[in-house]
Amino acid sequence: MGNPKLLLKMKNILLKNGHVVDPLNNVDFVSDLLIIDGRIKSLSKNVKPEYENLEVVDVSGKFVVPGLIDCHVHLREPGYEEKETIETGSRSAAMGGFTTVVCEPNTNPPIDSVAAVEDHVRRVGEKGLINIYTKVCITKGSKGEVITDMEKFGCYRSVVAFSDDGNPVLRKEVMVRALHTAAMSNKPVSPHCEDSGFYSVKDVTEEELGFSPSKKFWNEANFVKRDINCAGSIGCHVHFSHLSLKESIDYISEKREQGNITCEATPHHLLLDGDYRDINGEIPVVNPPLRSQVDVQSIQKGLSDGIIDVIASDHAPHSLPDKKSGAPGIIGLETTLGLVLTELVRPGIITLRDAVLKMSTNPAKIFKISGGSLLPGMPADVTVIDMEREWVVDINSFESKSRNCPFQGWKLKGQAVMTIVSGNIVMREGKIVF
Ligand code: NCD
Repeated sequence: MGNPKLLLKMKNILLKNGHVVDPLNNVDFVSDLLIIDGRIKSLSKNVKPEYENLEVVDVSGKFVVPGLIDCHVHLREPGYEEKETIETGSRSAAMGGFTTVVCEPNTNPPIDSVAAVEDHVRRVGEKGLINIYTKVCITKGSKGEVITDMEKFGCYRSVVAFSDDGNPVLRKEVMVRALHTAAMSNKPVSPHCEDSGFYSVKDVTEEELGFSPSKKFWNEANFVKRDINCAGSIGCHVHFSHLSLKESIDYISEKREQGNITCEATPHHLLLDGDYRDINGEIPVVNPPLRSQVDVQSIQKGLSDGIIDVIASDHAPHSLPDKKSGAPGIIGLETTLGLVLTELVRPGIITLRDAVLKMSTNPAKIFKISGGSLLPGMPADVTVIDMEREWVVDINSFESKSRNCPFQGWKLKGQAVMTIVSGNIVMREGKIVF
């Protein structure tokens, strides 16, 4: 899941006097954090610097939180390396304070086989700077027909969920079989309840779909309802990706007690509505599309009420020519934390503790990823945040290869100033240092 170099190079670090926030352990106070041999050793006041090879870093006035996890990113390798690679995506993640990401499987070839998973593990081992996990396609080639050998992935630690990414699973019967198979591997299914450019609800009958379809781009809640009802009797965990409509959130809220249902929202669906124009006067093109102010408000409410468990960027890099020809997607690894702190935490929509819960604790729990906590013994994945740092989004400074970010020019307050992965400082003060 990580680069073996990370384990070889790690040193011992003492973070002094930071305000530590770890929701899982009810920690919200000023403390030292000691990292020895790549793991959290202790969390207590006035730790004595009496260890060999120890770097002491004064983090007074800063927040120290479990390493942030983005469970929805596209690193585009293999197949679309002109947009992003495992290396540039890792650098982009570390700049944004993320110690861990989960990749979507819509690469070329797609991640839909044991061979593709093993290739991914090898590439991550060679080029990853952070912890990188992956989802595997629900169906071969994400075409919605033949289910992948899901049961084989139960023993792969790098595989944390199943998803056809931008393609919805159109046929109810295929989704039911997929939920049964995923349940055996004890990993969640993470459906994209969107209308893709490739497969339309019109391609199948109402009976096959399991609902009566609405017009294009308005079927999210239909898929959410169908998949929740299918999962109910099977007991498979379903994690809904990037929800965008009030109707979807309302239904999840109603069915929450059924258990085994979690969901995520992106910063763009939390902050922008369909009337938004970027600095060039353009409407950001993304899937699902930006919605109404009523939907935006409902997603924000879902976040503060706890219905939305996770904030994930859906980092979807595209080249300029592809964007010009209409490719949907927004990049987010380098802006998500700043946007969340400035636009959601500062105005009091959620607390900093909630932000950590939704960007570290909950994704770790949902995808059974080690991390999400600073308990002694845990791998030392840590993010240090300066809540007071003011900065302006500048796409030209990004480590990502792509520039499709609708937040260019936004003034933000709050940024990651250190990203520590397995006890290694990977990003420090806005520079990759590993
Ligand atoms: C995704 C991408 O670019 O891979 N784009 C997006 O707008 N979210 C695919 C998708 O989910 O449609």
